[in-house]
Amino acid sequence: MHKSIKRIIVPTALVIFLIAIIAACGSDEAKESTAAKKLYNTGLSADEINNEAFADIFPLQYESYKRNEEMSDTKYGGSIPTSKFDHTKEPYLPIIFNGYGFAKEYNEDRGHIYAVEDNINIARITDKSIGSCFTCKSTAVPILLEEDEFGDGYWSANFRNEIVPRAEELGHSPIGCSDCHDPETMELRVTRPMFATAMEARGVDISNPTKNEMRTYVCAQCHVEYYFEPKKKEVTFPWTNGLKPEEMYEYYDTIAKDSGFAQDWIHTVSGAPMLKAQHPEFEIWSEGPHGIAEVSCSDCHMPYERSDGKKKITSHQWTSPLKTIEQSCRTCHADKTEQELKDRVEGIQDTHMENLHKAEEISIDAHYFINKMITTGAPESKIEEAQELVRKGQWLFDIVAAENSAGFHDPQGAMDSMKKSTEALNEAIIIATEELVKLDVNIDELKEEIDKVKKAVYDEPDVFKKKDHVINDYFPNQQPPKN
Ligand code: HEC
Ligand code: HEC
Ligand code: HEC
Ligand code: HEC
Repeated sequence: MHKSIKRIIVPTALVIFLIAIIAACGSDEAKESTAAKKLYNTGLSADEINNEAFADIFPLQYESYKRNEEMSDTKYGGSIPTSKFDHTKEPYLPIIFNGYGFAKEYNEDRGHIYAVEDNINIARITDKSIGSCFTCKSTAVPILLEEDEFGDGYWSANFRNEIVPRAEELGHSPIGCSDCHDPETMELRVTRPMFATAMEARGVDISNPTKNEMRTYVCAQCHVEYYFEPKKKEVTFPWTNGLKPEEMYEYYDTIAKDSGFAQDWIHTVSGAPMLKAQHPEFEIWSEGPHGIAEVSCSDCHMPYERSDGKKKITSHQWTSPLKTIEQSCRTCHADKTEQELKDRVEGIQDTHMENLHKAEEISIDAHYFINKMITTGAPESKIEEAQELVRKGQWLFDIVAAENSAGFHDPQGAMDSMKKSTEALNEAIIIATEELVKLDVNIDELKEEIDKVKKAVYDEPDVFKKKDHVINDYFPNQQPPKN
């Protein structure tokens, strides 16, 4: 109606001018409605899982995707393959995760294109590994979950002998178009069922998401904390009590325990039943300033870019936004220069890493103090109390360490978690010290022995052998023998 009135009373040139202004002012709404309408008809099958099939139809997005092969680092992030045990990173992790696969090999993450290759080659994958380990790596997973051959048996099927060969047969790709898009229409979609299950458990309805929510949900199906529930070995997100580190801990101590999941592993030094955190970018982001302001993962990690020097597309190179501050951040923070924003991020990260290293050091002491409690015959109840505290304390720093932004996604929340972590760990040391003093243990000698172990781990040049220096005659293994 508006338009027809204008047509009658104003000259055509002016009408075009007015429409242009209206369109410019309401650009957000305009973007929203065109994106909603701009569904494609690709002519591809609904089951298409091979990236190459999309290449000719969407050459610009495909080229952008291919740039995930590039490798370059930022101060704390980036995509050059590096061990986390590197001296410049976290050299004592082989102590912290001793007795578990993460003490064997633990690398920085890198581009999506390498997901399958890195998954198959990591030393943590063995002949006994299961399908669940493949869940956030390959485009074949949604099909494997539906197929008669596996179905529900997918989760516990053998990784090397059953899952990988079948995925190859299906012509899968590492994390690809079909993981986030419906191949027929390119509409954004969630393909991993455990995300929907976990959101429902939190009481969040995801049946009718907004476009902005989808720009986060597509990532949140993989970039999260998870564990394998013991019955079917199904990948499960511990979100029923909430997304904060303590809330997830509470879940593990109640719901997961009741279902038979007591721990990821028993620590060789302290004998404590430990939890290993995965990569909870979604959870940490949710509680941080950008999550609260509903700034999506894609806003920063998939900024618009000019391709061909003219066409504007969504970048499909998922990497550190510090490489694209102009497009990723200055769209909203135009009052700050690129350098100011970079300095602000690195400032947050420096403080975060400093606190993380402190928490790690206290955790190491706590494990060894408990070891001494065990070998000198401290009361069982005190040992258990200290073990419980080291389990909780280590979880509270590991959950923000396993999160890959070095504190940026939620600077304050990460600091709070590390503060609670060091409180719990210090308390474990206090309990242990009281008992050890009663038993006449020389605390100075104990500390010297801990320093010797740390030096041996640090000095060992072969990353795969670092873990072997953690246990010795002074600190014997507390892990029960595997059956
Ligand atoms: C406000 C911008 C912003 C938002 C929103 C955001 N991130 Fe980040 N993200 C960053 C920055 C900055 C870093 C740190 C990069 C660095 O250290 O080089 C980062 C780091 C990461 C990394 C590690 C990258 C690397 O180079 O190793 C991953 C993975 C990641 N984010 C995933 C996510 C996911 C998933 C979401 C949504 C749940 C999200 N991010 C939301 C800005 C953002
Ligand atoms: C990890 C998730 C993810 C993967 C994998 C992915 N995309 Fe996207 N894609 C997105 C998001 C998010 C958008 C932005 C959609 C929006 O805001 O409406 C997008 C947008 C698009 C668009 C719309 C035009 C544009 O540039 O905004 C096309 C076409 C597209 N992707 C093609 C592809 C192709 C081809 C592949 C595989 C090579 C692929 N995508 C892989 C998440 C993904
Ligand atoms: C199907 C699972 C899956 C989905 C969906 C997914 N990711 Fe990832 N992402 C991974 C895995 C696995 C890695 C690590 C790959 C490796 O190290 O080989 C990774 C790595 C990354 C990295 C690190 C790259 C680097 O340079 O270090 C970033 C950043 C990232 N993802 C962001 C995102 C964002 C943003 C989304 C949503 C738009 C998303 N991812 C969707 C599984 C996924
Ligand atoms: C879509 C808009 C948007 C984008 C993109 C965005 N931000 Fe923000 N940023 C916000 C909003 C909104 C806030 C919250 C402001 C508030 O709470 O006062 C915020 C807050 C911040 C803060 C203050 C947080 C604190 O607690 O001190 C920093 C620093 C920041 N952003 C950096 C960045 C960086 C770096 C990037 C790119 C990697 C980025 N932002 C991308 C909208 C955005």
